[in-house]
Amino acid sequence: MQTGIRTLIPEQDIQRRVRELGEQISRDYAGQELVLVGVLKGCFLFMADLCRHIDLPLACDFLGVSSYGDRTSTSGVVRITSDLTRPVEGQHLLVVEDIVDTGLTMQYLLENLGSRKPRSIKICSLLEKPSRAVVKVPIDYLGFTIEDVFVVGYGLDFQGRFRNLRYLGVLGESGR
Ligand code: IMP
Ligand code: MG
Repeated sequence: MQTGIRTLIPEQDIQRRVRELGEQISRDYAGQELVLVGVLKGCFLFMADLCRHIDLPLACDFLGVSSYGDRTSTSGVVRITSDLTRPVEGQHLLVVEDIVDTGLTMQYLLENLGSRKPRSIKICSLLEKPSRAVVKVPIDYLGFTIEDVFVVGYGLDFQGRFRNLRYLGVLGESGR
């Protein structure tokens, strides 16, 4: 436990939900192959846990993105800092994100990945903050809906820190 952080979703609840999502994905894609496209860096723990609950032949690839904006919100101008390592034409893609906040990053990624002619694209996000949505993106697999608070832990950071927490927490009010 770190000082100044209130637990929002404990480790056990995260693990239970991630297992459920993996099982649901396994059922929905039964008989098919899948490419998990992780959005770095926030996805790294979620994707590591999720993929171990998916009982399908799958590949993991990653996109690095950085968005220009202030410290805690996105401007909608997204830059790919590290691209996929393989073409995805004809493949079933499942984009794995830590959180959909304004939705601008995901909107950009759907457009960008869509232009590469995959067979299908779906979204799996650990968290969603609907109160902050600027654009509505369809989340096919969602872990938890949360209020408008800035969360850290389980992959999510504030200024690069706190990604290693096993739980999701809220930074002190002064952190925003
Ligand atoms: P969006 O483009 O506004 O949907 O923002 C998406 C990105 O902003 C996420 O992938 C996160 O990296 C970051 N982000 C948004 N909200 C939070 C938060 O509460 N904690 C940590 N990162 C966040
Ligand atoms: Mg992110």
